[in-house]
Amino acid sequence: MSPAREIPFPGCHMSFPLAVLVSGGGSNLQSILDKIDSGALPAEVRVVLSNKPDAYGLTRARERGIPAVALPHADFPTRAAFDAEMVRVINEHGVDAKAGAVVLAGFMRMLTPEFLRAFPQRVVNIHPALLPSFPGTHGARDAADYGVRLAGCTVHFVDEIMDHGPVIIQAAVPALPGEGGDALAARILALEHCIYPQAIGWLAQGRLAIEGRHVRLTAPAAPAAAPLASWGGAERPYLVSPGLEPGFLPR
Ligand code: GRF
Repeated sequence: MSPAREIPFPGCHMSFPLAVLVSGGGSNLQSILDKIDSGALPAEVRVVLSNKPDAYGLTRARERGIPAVALPHADFPTRAAFDAEMVRVINEHGVDAKAGAVVLAGFMRMLTPEFLRAFPQRVVNIHPALLPSFPGTHGARDAADYGVRLAGCTVHFVDEIMDHGPVIIQAAVPALPGEGGDALAARILALEHCIYPQAIGWLAQGRLAIEGRHVRLTAPAAPAAAPLASWGGAERPYLVSPGLEPGFLPR
């Protein structure tokens, strides 16, 4: 096992700079912004980038006065050139190898090793399935089609393999027979909006130690996995591990 590496982030008295990468609607971006506004998440979104100029996530950023940068990937001769420009823009906004994190929020491009090396252990992703099951573009739909009875979402550090890096937090929900991929994906998305800001909060507090494939949540005491809990009525149970802190619970 490789030695534990605690990531040296500043304490939560400073706001933690984030670069958020989106390709679509940006509801996860919105959940991060909402938790910043509520005071639960000591972070600041410095820049939002998209490979899709019409991504609504860019509009969400612009409406709040956050720099929103469209970089159509087809404008670049190679994947390496595209990623190098993203690194340049992200660095320019105060996120680099030593400060802050890169948050993939529905960003539909694989990143090059060069990109990941620019932000070592500071790139995170959310995936709408319980990894390692159902990696890829349509995690929730694939799970529904397969007929699973438990589905969910995963926040993980990003490595060079798609939907593969060490897991930070997962949430599970029952999959209901016949509900279909869209309905299941919507219930999962509501939990994504809780676990992603929570994971970023732990990262901002320097509380995530990567030990090989395992991520340890350091003191103060990691919340135990929440027992099966519900929100908005008993028909929406979920299980999350590690447990969510009060500012991040579903409402
Ligand atoms: C989410 O389901 C996320 O898990 C996946 O892409 C979707 C993005 O949704 N990676 P949004 O753009 O944040 O609404």
